[in-house]
This record gives sequence, C-alpha cells and structure tokens, in this order.
Amino acid sequence: MLLHTISEVREQIKKWKKEGLTIGLVPTMGALHAGHLSLIKKSVEKCDRTVVSVFVNPIQFCPGEDLDKYPRTLEADEKLCAEAGVNIVFAPSPKEMYGEGHILSNDFLTYVIPPYFYTDKLCGKSRVGHFDGVCTVVNKLFNIVQPDYAFFGQKDAQQLIIIKKMVKDLNIPVEIIPCPIVREESGLALSSRNKYLSESDKKEALALSKILFNIKACYDKGITDVKALTETAYSFLNGHHSLEYLEFRDKDNLEEKNVADCNTQVFIALKIGNVRLIDNILLG
Ligand code: PAJ
Repeated sequence: MLLHTISEVREQIKKWKKEGLTIGLVPTMGALHAGHLSLIKKSVEKCDRTVVSVFVNPIQFCPGEDLDKYPRTLEADEKLCAEAGVNIVFAPSPKEMYGEGHILSNDFLTYVIPPYFYTDKLCGKSRVGHFDGVCTVVNKLFNIVQPDYAFFGQKDAQQLIIIKKMVKDLNIPVEIIPCPIVREESGLALSSRNKYLSESDKKEALALSKILFNIKACYDKGITDVKALTETAYSFLNGHHSLEYLEFRDKDNLEEKNVADCNTQVFIALKIGNVRLIDNILLG
C-alpha cells in the first residue's frame, strides 16, 4: 500500500509490532532499478513485513546539485514494489518530513551530524553537508518505521560506513544489512543517475569499473603499493571525463592506506559532463 503520511505509517507499524512481526526498511530516493530491487528482495526474504521509503531528500542535496531534475517515477516504483512483495511504500512530501518552509529555514531543523573525520573526505569533500542530510533523514525514517533491519547498498560505501557509525554511536535499535553492488553486464554499477547518461557517456562511464577491476587484478597478483596501484588507472582515463578522486581507505573507518591489504576499499568518483558517478571495490 502507498502511504504519504507519517501517522498512517505509524498506525500500521503499531499493529505489526503488536503481532510480533519483524520489519525491514529499505530507504530510497526512488527511480528504482535492479540495485534497489536487490535490497528489497533481501528484506522481503528476511523480514515479515517490508517498508520501502521513496523520498528525494532535499536536505542532502547541495546548492547547484540535481534536486529539481532528480528522476521521480513514483507510479513505476510503486508497481515494482508491489511485484516484489513490499507491504508499504512510504512516499512523504518534503513538507510532511520537514514542515512548512523547511528549505528556506534549514537552521530550524535538528540535524544528526556524523563525525567530521568520516565526512571531510571522498564524496563529503565536494558535497559539503550531504552526509548530515543523509543521517538526519535516515534517523527520522528509523524513528518513523522502527525497523528491526535496514538494508543499504555497498554502492554508496561511504554512506553505509557513516550510517553504521551513527547507529552504533546513538544506540539505534536496528541491524544494518549491507548488500552487494549490482552491476550491468558491462561492469557499470546501476544508479538512478545513469538516466542522465547518453550512450556515449555510458561508454565513458565504464572507466570507473574498469579502473577498479584492474586495480583488484593487480592486487591479486601481489602488488600492494598504493602508488603503483594508482598508476594502473591512468591508461583508462581520457579527456572526456575528469577524475574527482581515486583513494585507498580502510573499509570500516576510512583511514588512508599507503599499502593495500584485505581491509582496503578503493573508492572512485568520475565526472562525465555534469554527471558525477561513484563506484568502489573491496580488495579483500
Ligand atoms: P538511493 O540513491 O535511491 O539508494 C537507495 C539504496 O540503494 C542505497 O542504500 C544505495 O546504496 C542502494 N543502491 C543504489 N544503487 C545500487 C546498486 N547498483 N547496487 C546495490 N545497491 C544500490 O542512497 C540513497 O538513495 C539516499 O542517500 C538515502 C539512503 C535513501 C537517504 O536519502
């Protein structure tokens, strides 16, 4: 069922809790694709009831980003969710989540701010305040749905690490279930933002996964020096895209690595025209 208000969701959750049913939450911004559906499938398998939230969260977009043109396809999303066995699609308006005038008066909102050490790097460097917006909305969704389990993709690895940290630090009673990255056959990780890419952009975008797979192959052959591994990326780069970052960091606490090991995660962000794409791979 499609619900738009917090009170309707609360009412339903109350009933399920009374019956002792387990609840899974899959937070999304909609424009659902096979990546989202893999999370949804896991939740439906594991939990008695599954809630999917579809909310393009304005406070996690920075000025000049794609908030207005972010794809909104609620009807199709609802259909996919129904086919997948989802019990509630929660699609609130920004007003329902943040009240009147929230966009103009962000200052009046209580934020959940993750530690600077986790947010001053990788995507947080160019998207200042992004993870504050993510943690705030995810915390609100946890409070509204009170899930036993919440499902997040490894695709947004920094987000996943930060949410795990928030849950631990704030003793939020939910178990975070990480889910593997779903890719096209070409290697390109699925993303709602792939909709912005032309056919030739999509070919350019293959550089992301090619660089990561090549680094992993070199690591598997025994190369662990991060400088040497970074150099293997250059042959995949050209004038049509620009590399925002390629970094080797600890998979749990994001500390920088100079020598790669089985806990090393490689993070990449590439810009093709105005479209910013991210990907990552764990070396271990
Ligand atoms: P969104 O980009 O819609 O992603 C929702 C969830 O789907 C995230 O956990 C993301 O990591 C996962 N996902 C996206 N593409 C994937 C892929 N190719 N393989 C596996 N999982 C994938 O991430 C957000 O929304 C928002 O920041 C949100 C957490 C909903 C807060 O607003």
